[in-house]
Amino acid sequence: MLEIEVVADNGDGSDDCWDAGLCKGAPHAERGVRPTSSRRCSRAGSRRTVKGVVVELRWWWSAETVAVVTGGNRGIGFEISKQLAAQGVTVILTSRDHSVGLEAAKVFQEGGFNVFCHQLDVLDTVSITEFCDWLKQNYGGLDILINNAAVNFNQGFDNTVEYASQVITTNYYGTKNMIQAMIPLMKPSAAGARIVNVSSRLGRINGKRSKIEDVCLREKFSNLDTITEELIDQTVSSFLQQVQDGTWESGGWPKTFTDYSVSKLAVNTYTRLMAKMLSDRPEGQKIYINCYCPGWVKTAMTGYAGNISVEAGADTAVWLALLPDLAVTGKFFAERLQLLHYGLHIRYSPNDSENSNVIDIFRTAICRE
Ligand SMILES: NC(=O)c1ccc[n+]([C@@H]2O[C@H](COP(=O)([O-])OP(=O)(O)OC[C@H]3O[C@@H](n4cnc5c(N)ncnc54)[C@H](OP(=O)(O)O)[C@@H]3O)[C@@H](O)[C@H]2O)c1
Repeated sequence: MLEIEVVADNGDGSDDCWDAGLCKGAPHAERGVRPTSSRRCSRAGSRRTVKGVVVELRWWWSAETVAVVTGGNRGIGFEISKQLAAQGVTVILTSRDHSVGLEAAKVFQEGGFNVFCHQLDVLDTVSITEFCDWLKQNYGGLDILINNAAVNFNQGFDNTVEYASQVITTNYYGTKNMIQAMIPLMKPSAAGARIVNVSSRLGRINGKRSKIEDVCLREKFSNLDTITEELIDQTVSSFLQQVQDGTWESGGWPKTFTDYSVSKLAVNTYTRLMAKMLSDRPEGQKIYINCYCPGWVKTAMTGYAGNISVEAGADTAVWLALLPDLAVTGKFFAERLQLLHYGLHIRYSPNDSENSNVIDIFRTAICRE
């Protein structure tokens, strides 16, 4: 891992430290104290000399930037909240059990972070409405939505569809509920509001392990012109109907993590559809929506059997949420790479820069793995 010690030369003899959590030795990260918004705002887009190299600092957010994280009380959602807060963003950590959420937020508040909790069950319309009212009243809306809440009941090689309805409802309809509820509350900004859906490689239409056998359906899901909300809804309904009838095994669905894979296929496809639907918003009111796979992470969901830490699992979500000049939408990422079909990927790297002497600090930090 490339770690960059950033002690910026401010030209006035003083040292400053940037990017808590991204840079080694950041004093506010070590102390758990967030940098002030004025510092971040006033210097956004500036250049500093770091160890003789010109470093471009391009953050767009401040303490007024509001990020909502669903299922933030534990696992990857908790870690995403932490990493966003460490960058100076105000985080609304939501939890379906309010008392558990309050405990989680308290941990951050004691560390000096701007993290606040509100109850939110992504399947409960009353809870969502109350949350929307509270968010509007107290924060005027949001800039970033991280759809993280989800369930899975499969472990190892076991493949149960006993909870298929709960899995599809939470993972797909819960995500959809939040997107629909939050879009009207997303604040206009030059950087564009962001939605990050925490998804899975298991939901990739051309994934090796989760292929849907129905070629016609696969083609429809692959082609943005043929994707509709009705198609996605009908597909998951048809799967649930087959589960109920006991015929799902001959339905050509993925053979392992079946219900979870179908739910994430729906999330991934809905992400692409929403990106298309949001694409004609005018400058200043853009909303970018992407999804990513955190990998196999050591959380309750995997029985702590994953091979990736929560820190690494949360990383791409935070990267997507804060990426400067985000022109990418409707895409699927893993490990800060945009995954394409057939194993190809795109890396957003500092080499994009026209001037090779200029290192974009954000992207450099991004490409540290
Ligand atoms: N762990 C992995 O290896 C892995 C791999 C690929 C993708 N993912 C994805 O990463 C995300 C986070 O997973 P994780 O591993 O951190 O799992 P986790 O530890 O089980 O956390 C799941 C979170 O979702 C919340 N949740 C479930 N149903 C909810 C509802 N109806 N309303 C609001 N919150 C709800 C849970 O709340 P409670 O505490 O109240 O249950 C919990 O906070 C999920 O989207 C998952 O699909 C994980």
